[in-house]
Amino acid sequence: MEIQEIIALIKETKSFVGNRERALHIKTKGRADYVTRVDTDIQNFLDRELGCRFPEIQFLGEEEGLHEMSADTYWILDPIDGTTNLIHDYQHSVVSLALYEKGEITLGVIYDPYREDVYHAKKGAGSFLNGEPIHVSEVETLSETIITVGTSPYDREVADENFQRIRRVFDRAQDIRRTGTAAMDLAYVACGRTGGFFEPRLSPWDFAAGQLLVKEAGGQVTNFAGEAPGFVKRGSIVASNGNIHEELRGLL
Ligand code: IPD
Ligand code: CA
Ligand code: CA
Repeated sequence: MEIQEIIALIKETKSFVGNRERALHIKTKGRADYVTRVDTDIQNFLDRELGCRFPEIQFLGEEEGLHEMSADTYWILDPIDGTTNLIHDYQHSVVSLALYEKGEITLGVIYDPYREDVYHAKKGAGSFLNGEPIHVSEVETLSETIITVGTSPYDREVADENFQRIRRVFDRAQDIRRTGTAAMDLAYVACGRTGGFFEPRLSPWDFAAGQLLVKEAGGQVTNFAGEAPGFVKRGSIVASNGNIHEELRGLL
């Protein structure tokens, strides 16, 4: 599989992201959980185009929901990670595509159409931003870095506990950030802009590509219990440069 072919395809989604009329065509899926025509346009486009090129690979997209996949190999797509940002034209949203093969993610691509940045990682071959190798930051303690946090906005019942975690991390780190896109948060850990990221409840399409980027850039990704994240159900995620993983996880 030629990575440049996948990157060229994902870059074609820029024209969909810029369509404000379709971004304001909104359906509500749940509490503060939306889908716009841009999400479904991108999912339909990539489903069709990947299907033509790789007919043997199945497809799991967020807008079809989470279900048991029977295949060994399938794409995992979040057509827009940061839909609420997209609706408000906040300009922090990405397209996130991963390839799942026999229990692990072997390829991850995250495309930021606003900055025209492409992050990609291949298992065993490193992580890259626009073709240049990237690495996690070298900080040794939380006190030397900023941490992005996720609020799991669709699961308000976890908010009290999570805001207490955020407070504990804030007290130890330089500062915290909330971008509104977990995939971008993971890409930023991979390229060393932040020391870490955590969120109590995420779906596989939110973190599948990003966790490979972090790992291939030299970092660490687990759930809050310290176990390897799975890709078939929702769960917590903590990512870091590795050096601060236990310090961060210990506060969660
Ligand atoms: C959401 C974003 C957000 C995170 C949520 C995700 P969506 O994805 O990644 O940052 O806090 O938990 O569900 O709905 O915009 O694809
Ligand atoms: Ca998402
Ligand atoms: Ca999404």
